[in-house]
Amino acid sequence: MALVTSKEMFAKALNSDYAVGAFNVNNMEIIQGIVEAAQQENAPLILQVSAGARKYAKPAYLIKLVEAAIIDTGVDICLHLDHGEDFEICKKCVDDGFTSVMIDGSKHPFEENIRMTKEVVDYAHAHGVVVEAELGKLAGIEDAVNVSARDATFTVPEEAAEFVAKTGVDSLAVAIGTSHGAYKFKGEPKLDFDRLKEIHALIPETPLVLHGASTVLPEFVAKCNQYGGNIPGAQGVPEEMIREAAKHGVCKVNIDTDLRLAMTAEIRKFFVENPAEFDPRKYLGPARDAIRGMVAHKIKNVLGASGMR
Ligand code: G3H
Ligand code: 13P
Ligand code: ZN
Repeated sequence: MALVTSKEMFAKALNSDYAVGAFNVNNMEIIQGIVEAAQQENAPLILQVSAGARKYAKPAYLIKLVEAAIIDTGVDICLHLDHGEDFEICKKCVDDGFTSVMIDGSKHPFEENIRMTKEVVDYAHAHGVVVEAELGKLAGIEDAVNVSARDATFTVPEEAAEFVAKTGVDSLAVAIGTSHGAYKFKGEPKLDFDRLKEIHALIPETPLVLHGASTVLPEFVAKCNQYGGNIPGAQGVPEEMIREAAKHGVCKVNIDTDLRLAMTAEIRKFFVENPAEFDPRKYLGPARDAIRGMVAHKIKNVLGASGMR
């Protein structure tokens, strides 16, 4: 049991129908809920830390909590930096003991994205750490209705092949119509699967990553709203689309919003039903259970990763 890279996890997942869940973590209860679900389901696991999470919880706390989760459960964990915006933050995480970092140069021009990614790859690989990069911009399909708009936004398959060859990156996040948060589609949910298949055909050995992959399950949105929330018109990626993506090279599926909704719904319910309670353990405990339930559901029914550790 240890902190591990995603290398072996992805090698197993690449030519199979399942994907590894990458869940965002911000505090102890979230970490415990996720890791207990992975233990229960005997599933491979990536825990990811955003810049915002580092700022909120401080790196030392998050790293020690993840190490504690490994000791407590015996689950091997890949500890990953989510959306590193420059070399400095990636270097800090490598130096801190992360086993995987993402350099997100997607907002920069193609050549600059290659340069930034290569710089991180050189440093990370020299320290035994793997690297994820991103090409294309995450945006809902309605923002890219015509072909030229799509090419300007979504990942261009030929560029993906050139990018991977020039950077030596270990995995690549692609833009095919998903977006972050709880409002992913205005109308019918739609992903560009033809584009995904084309990318996978050109770089069949490169594990692909799907960001913005929460489903925004209606029952959790409804539960938030029932207990005083105000989250109208939220919509995510249907579960069958995640299962389909896993068949075409997607090895890593990023999930944060669904955890936030599960946790918030539970805490809102508790506060409404127990107005006299003020012991944080009374609502953070059920919130942790809700995280565990959500992650177990994802592993079993969406990622197909049960028993794949
Ligand atoms: O990529 C977005 C993740 O949901 C992390 O969100 O930057 O608010 O921590 P955050
Ligand atoms: P969601 O907002 O769909 O959960 O996506 C999270 C993500 O991509 C983190 O990098
Ligand atoms: Zn993301």
